[in-house]
Amino acid sequence: MLQQDQITRSTDYDALACRFSCHLKKYLQDKYLEAIISGTLKYQLLAIDSEYKRLAVRRQLSKQFFGLFDGTGKAKLTAKLPVVLKSPVINRGTWIRTRAIDLVVDKWLAAKTATPVQIIILGCGSDTRGMRLLENNSNLTVVEIDFEETCRIKKYSILDQELLRSAVGAQPEPEPTTVEQFNASSAALDTPRYHLVPLDLRQLHSMTQLPAVDPSLPTLVLSECCVCYMEDVESDRVLQFLRENLAEAVLVVYDPIGGESPGNYGEIMLKNLSMRGIQMPSLLKYSTIEKQHERLQKLGFESTNVSDLSYIYSHWIPEDELAAINRLELLDELEELNLINRHYCLIVSSWGSPWHLPLPSQI
Ligand SMILES: C[S@@+](CC[C@H](N)C(=O)[O-])C[C@H]1O[C@@H](n2cnc3c(N)ncnc32)[C@H](O)[C@@H]1O
Repeated sequence: MLQQDQITRSTDYDALACRFSCHLKKYLQDKYLEAIISGTLKYQLLAIDSEYKRLAVRRQLSKQFFGLFDGTGKAKLTAKLPVVLKSPVINRGTWIRTRAIDLVVDKWLAAKTATPVQIIILGCGSDTRGMRLLENNSNLTVVEIDFEETCRIKKYSILDQELLRSAVGAQPEPEPTTVEQFNASSAALDTPRYHLVPLDLRQLHSMTQLPAVDPSLPTLVLSECCVCYMEDVESDRVLQFLRENLAEAVLVVYDPIGGESPGNYGEIMLKNLSMRGIQMPSLLKYSTIEKQHERLQKLGFESTNVSDLSYIYSHWIPEDELAAINRLELLDELEELNLINRHYCLIVSSWGSPWHLPLPSQI
């Protein structure tokens, strides 16, 4: 795997650590989270063939997950809080991101209870949303796609623990014990209602690569911080491919947007990302919600809801819920939170059979 792709993959652990912090602070409840982190750490370490590198990664992962997992990935959650978690502003941002996507997905599912449906998650990483959705929606099939290495770690994390196995309806399988066996094993997982597809999305060119997807079913495609890591032509190709091959679908894209002002947020964000070697080609090109909207229109999508997270924070969340969130921890940096939230967008588009999200849209 290319070094650049390894770096892109590693962004999943940032998202996972942010969700874990939110979970510990009770912004979000996710009964699968501890198990998936445990497995992710265990199998990420098993995938590394150099002892020296393994030690370095173990140290780094331990720090990333607040020292709450031991070197084999076992949780040490009996350790007394407070440990230092993410800052209130990061927790609030992660919460609104997750909550906004949950709202869209739940409203779409609520409109589709009478028919079998599927959700395709692009760049799923170690997210557990698919598991949570399977639990509450018996008409749903979930197809998750990510790089092979990420899928292999997720697959064995799922198979390793009864809680996760039963969430996706998988049977136990003998697990590879050496690095060589592990890295040579299949990264795919298929159960009647859950499919984990190891695929570099930039290589997606035929529906034969997605045998689990039924193109005739109503589909929700979710890209939560995924297409932003691809070159524009590549992400356009992926989105266009789905547009052409799925009869009736809703596309939900959550992406950072760089903004327009001089010395803008996007330039600073790119500088920070580049220090870690991360590239985000679309950040300045599609720097506003209007530009993201135009981009999707050009690709033939009909966007029905285009908003930034600051708008969503103040227009989608009921007041009593916001009040409960405000009580979780003190947030002094409200201005900073608004600034950050203005630099993330959520776009809902549909084709085939138009679906309008029953929530206000910024444009
Ligand atoms: C920031 S993480 C987000 C993970 C998850 N969607 C979430 O929000 O928690 C980005 C994910 O997209 C995946 N990704 C990026 N480019 C990809 C590609 N070309 N093919 C498959 N997966 C990709 C990465 O491996 C990573 O898991």
